Amino acid sequence: MLSRLLLAAARSPAARQAVLVAPVGRDLVHRFIAGEEREDAVRAVDELIVRGLQVSLDFLGEDTTDAAHADTVRDEYTGLLARLGAAGLGRRAEVSVKLSALGANLGRGSGAEALDRARAVCAAAAPAGTTVTLDMEDHRSTDATLAAAAALRADYPWVGVVLQSYLRRTEADCRELLQTGCRVRLVKGAYLEPGGVAFQSRGEVDRSYVRCLRLLMEGDGYPMVATHDPRLIDIAGALAVRAGRGQDGYEFQMLYGIRTEEQLRLAGAGETVRVYVPYGGDWYGYFMRRLAERPANVAFFLRSLGHG
Ligand code: FDA
Repeated sequence: MLSRLLLAAARSPAARQAVLVAPVGRDLVHRFIAGEEREDAVRAVDELIVRGLQVSLDFLGEDTTDAAHADTVRDEYTGLLARLGAAGLGRRAEVSVKLSALGANLGRGSGAEALDRARAVCAAAAPAGTTVTLDMEDHRSTDATLAAAAALRADYPWVGVVLQSYLRRTEADCRELLQTGCRVRLVKGAYLEPGGVAFQSRGEVDRSYVRCLRLLMEGDGYPMVATHDPRLIDIAGALAVRAGRGQDGYEFQMLYGIRTEEQLRLAGAGETVRVYVPYGGDWYGYFMRRLAERPANVAFFLRSLGHG
């Protein structure tokens, strides 16, 4: 119930305003977010790489409301990628992109414009020696995101895409994608979705995750196992062995600031572990989804109000 409220608040302009003016503890926000500036992100990349981890960088922002801002988001990504390339970090740090941040929801024709911007991001990733993964937003954008990923992969076959196991359609999407050799990041899903399109119970979402993961492990693509769930992490290891995949045939992914010890444990055991690192000033939606995932974070958040 609380998590549904928080997810609704993540999309509410009024709630956004209330949280942004509240004295939210900086420490709490910075637990999940590397910082506001590009150099904060690069510093986080350096620190994680030294610890044997890889990175996917996310410039925070979603539901961009005008084309000029969408251009700014594109330019931040291309600038970041040039910076990663110049620092020789491209082999270990890629970027994650939300099509809504690139202006996909601005009305007629905006999907094609967002795709052009995503193409510019891919064109900057290539010389930096790295990859791009398209994040997945709520179910109304699933078809468009999958179509954009397919269009980008025609020129940049290393473009990856996220699938969410809470959606009833995802098993079928896995079956389609696994024949394309695509990089697929499998997550449970972080948005408030109706029962008609999404499983509502934890058990159903987890069982769907296992079914999808089995398909991906047995397919031709590169599975990216994005979860902090210890049971699913164990199952992923077992499914990889069963499918005859070595440790270089898949990777684990987790969010910055969540289960850091587990990230290091897996990396120490020879697994590839990529940490999703968000940065930028527009942290509200991302932060609220992290609160919604874990009631303990909410208590921590409420205690931090007034101490910020
Ligand atoms: P679950 O929520 O069951 O958590 C398992 C355990 O992990 C918890 O018991 C707790 O120990 C720990 N944990 C999880 N979340 C926590 C939190 N916020 N704070 C503290 N501890 C926490 N979603 C989406 O819809 N579209 C996307 O594009 C992406 N992209 C993405 C990239 C990567 C790399 C990751 C890891 C996740 C995403 N997600 C996402 C988010 C995803 O859908 C999901 O909401 C979170 O990963 C939480 O689900 P878990 O699989 O971790 O399981």
